[in-house]
Amino acid sequence: MPSPPPLPLALFLLCPALTFLARQSAAEQKLSPPAPRRPSSSPPPPASSLSARGSRSLRPVLSYFPLFLSCLENLASPDNPAGRIPLCVAENKLVTKGLLSPRMEKALPSACANHQAFTYSDMAGLPELREAAAAFFTAHFKGAVSSSDVLVGSGGSGLLSTAFTLLLSEGDGIIIPAPYYAAFDNDTSVLAGCVPVPLLSENPAAGPTEQELDACLSRSAAPIRMLLLTNPNNPLGVCYTVEQLEMMIRWARSRGLHVLVDEVYALSGFGEGGVAFSSALEVLGGAAGLGEDVHVLYSLSKDFGASGLRTGFLVTGNEQVGTYRARSTRSVKLVDSVPW
Ligand SMILES: *[C@@H]1O[C@H](CO)[C@@H](O)[C@H](O)[C@H]1NC(C)=O
Repeated sequence: MPSPPPLPLALFLLCPALTFLARQSAAEQKLSPPAPRRPSSSPPPPASSLSARGSRSLRPVLSYFPLFLSCLENLASPDNPAGRIPLCVAENKLVTKGLLSPRMEKALPSACANHQAFTYSDMAGLPELREAAAAFFTAHFKGAVSSSDVLVGSGGSGLLSTAFTLLLSEGDGIIIPAPYYAAFDNDTSVLAGCVPVPLLSENPAAGPTEQELDACLSRSAAPIRMLLLTNPNNPLGVCYTVEQLEMMIRWARSRGLHVLVDEVYALSGFGEGGVAFSSALEVLGGAAGLGEDVHVLYSLSKDFGASGLRTGFLVTGNEQVGTYRARSTRSVKLVDSVPW
């Protein structure tokens, strides 16, 4: 039976593709870094922006992890016989440094040029992939993004679950302008235990008015903690205007709510008539303008047609969310230099 191409190979092919697209677009549009265009919204709430369970998840997962890191700083070698040998990480070194490496290098030369795919590395995603994604967002979403703002996850749904779990508590309500993507009902509730609160508005294609947002907020039985937007809209196939986006973000901020903007269809517009796509990244002047409370979701499933790769990106300025993904792996990539 033919086996599918291994994921590391796919990812290594993808990084150059994203980088290429970013460069091409920058060249075509002669993009200078976009001028910050901060809406006159109130600053994000000062309190911890994570929910109680989100804060709990920042605890180290392994009691021996600090010992492991100190061990990496003093590795045993012929020149350092008194150094340490870490025995607490199970990685198959036969693939990169032993029996299997000649065959691996023949089968997957591009993946083998860099061993990061074969060793525990930053849990926020392979550095090359995050760099390529950041360049891609900067070029196509027209707001400066750096790799440290990008978290890689297993598709849009996985990242949504992570974001809902870290930012919200069980029972918290999430306002979602209706009609919306049918899977949001389960994406919000099954793992994260949150409550989807549909917002019915007079003109869904234009987006809710401030009065409609307020009415939804005060009518909801569940305490509202987030506004979940989809732009370009699924299923309506239209985009919000910059003014509409600014108003909704300003509204949410003034009420201490998180905003998560699902932009998975960002580049799938035909550009004919209607409102052109503007990313929240453009509207807020890049990732720096996202603050602790606005988050942008993207995935390879739609514009790239690569739904099987299960690869998504969360662009967030919320350091605590970033810390959650990266916390246990600060320098684990050094493991690859362990001489065994
Ligand atoms: C959500 O999941 C339940 C249980 O699997 C299923 O019955 C329901 O149809 C799902 N909802 C949607 C909108 O897909």
